[in-house]
Amino acid sequence: MKATIRTARLLLRPLAWDDLDAFTALLHDPDVRRYLCDDMLLPPSTVEGFVAQSDGLDSKGLGYWVIEEPGRDPFAGIVGLTDPHDEFPLMKGGTEVLIALAPVAMGRGIGREALEGVCAEAQRLGIRRLVGGVDMPNRASHKLMTRAGFVAIGENEGPAWMNTIYERLLGDDQGAPDRLT
Ligand SMILES: CC(C)(COP(=O)(O)OP(=O)(O)OC[C@H]1O[C@@H](n2cnc3c(N)ncnc32)[C@H](O)[C@@H]1OP(=O)(O)O)[C@@H](O)C(=O)NCCC(=O)NCCS
Repeated sequence: MKATIRTARLLLRPLAWDDLDAFTALLHDPDVRRYLCDDMLLPPSTVEGFVAQSDGLDSKGLGYWVIEEPGRDPFAGIVGLTDPHDEFPLMKGGTEVLIALAPVAMGRGIGREALEGVCAEAQRLGIRRLVGGVDMPNRASHKLMTRAGFVAIGENEGPAWMNTIYERLLGDDQGAPDRLT
């Protein structure tokens, strides 16, 4: 079962079916979908597929978490640890990190804090290699990955753009986040 993760400002709670409408609205936002969804308005069935994917990864402690800012925003975004996309050979064997913030949550370090929260959780789960793919023009995402300790290892072709593939190798020296469940 996925843990609930607490960081300095955030609560990362496992994505639930009740979040479907908020998750769909997030993915339909123009600033969110531009690179993450190749600017497409994903149909409800695809978003439902993400929730089902999250449920399916639950036994491994992986999937998607809702980013909550307690007292401020119950749905500031989504962060995930999943099996990597087959289309990116450089990711093979790793665990993929994914993140999307609502525009009101951008530019405040929320993304980095959420990403570091799930990186620490991955470490606790014994995962040793995290990977992520970033569309070439997605500057905010390149900055975030670099700030969160990821290193570019090469490029793979994505559906719309070349993707820089990042990895972060996890050792034994990183503290685990507070665990609520
Ligand atoms: C990728 C994404 C999560 C990055 O979000 P972000 O807000 O730029 O990243 P962070 O939360 O780490 O915030 C960093 C910014 O907050 C600033 N900041 C303000 N207060 C801060 C604090 N307390 N701590 C850290 N940074 C802080 C930083 O200086 C930085 O600003 P800068 O980019 O102008 O240098 C966001 O752009 C997004 O959701 N995009 C849409 C979906 C997407 O493309 N996802 C990635 C697919 S690969």
